[in-house]
Amino acid sequence: MILTSTAPPTAEAVDVRRTHPAGVRLSGVSRSFPTPRGQHHVLTDVNLSIGPGEIVALIGASGCGKSTLLREICGLDRPDAGEIVIDDQPVRTVEARCAVAFQEPRLLPWRTVRDNVHLGLPRGTGRVDGDDRVDELLELVGLTAAAERRPREVSGGMAQRVSLARALARNPAVLLLDEPLGALDALTRLKMQDLLLEIHAAEPTTVVLVTHDVEEALYLADRVALIGGAHRHRGSEVQTLITVPGDRPRDRGDTTLAALRLELLQGLGVPTHH
Ligand SMILES: Nc1ncnc2c1ncn2[C@@H]1O[C@H](COP(=O)(O)OP(=O)(O)OP(=O)(O)O)[C@@H](O)[C@H]1O
Ligand SMILES: [Mg+2]
Repeated sequence: MILTSTAPPTAEAVDVRRTHPAGVRLSGVSRSFPTPRGQHHVLTDVNLSIGPGEIVALIGASGCGKSTLLREICGLDRPDAGEIVIDDQPVRTVEARCAVAFQEPRLLPWRTVRDNVHLGLPRGTGRVDGDDRVDELLELVGLTAAAERRPREVSGGMAQRVSLARALARNPAVLLLDEPLGALDALTRLKMQDLLLEIHAAEPTTVVLVTHDVEEALYLADRVALIGGAHRHRGSEVQTLITVPGDRPRDRGDTTLAALRLELLQGLGVPTHH
């Protein structure tokens, strides 16, 4: 069958523009960096299997290697040892199947909101398809009315939503979120958490979410992986892996979640006085 750009849209064509969540498997992933005082072991033997469409939160102390781990998954950096497989295909180079949203939105200041989202579209996306997809994503993140504004004319929460829409524009099989809500005030943050869940329901991609916020991890994720170093002179590994009970959206006041929160805080070395 020959597909041309003038072919009328079919149900199948629309479906192709949607995300197809992938499974991610990390086996024995290790990464160290040379320093003047010898090798700095950041990750040592990280093992983690993430199912298609699953949301996994990574938490751990600052500097424990969470961002490094995301870079390994999307191929921006290569591990010294071990393997990362996305849907049975090993990650060897920068991954077209992944999209990343960072703590700061990293928007192009001279482009409009719409054009910034447009930049996320996969290469070769047709003009009409691309415009339709961008409209759909702007709607999804509630930015239709702000489409023609520049980044300096939107709030921090809106800028973060542009960044999310741009990441989703790639139709990633795996969405990597590196503290995407970290810079937001508490109320905006709670609203954005609900938006993330709406986005995940509409575009059920696999999500790896790095967060410092234990409550956020327990509210959003299917599983929470606590990353840390068990031994001195050794890099971080997955220390604790918790399956969060209950369907989403969850009750933020749930007592089971409160108990898990204490467990995770203790794992992070935070005094909890209980
Ligand atoms: N390219 C690099 N060269 C040398 N050291 C690096 C490099 N990338 C990361 N590191 C080191 O690896 C460690 C982990 O860094 P990483 O950014 O992954 O931590 P993190 O868990 O994301 O921290 P934070 O929560 O503060 O963002 C740090 O000590 C950092 O200095
Ligand atoms: Mg980081």
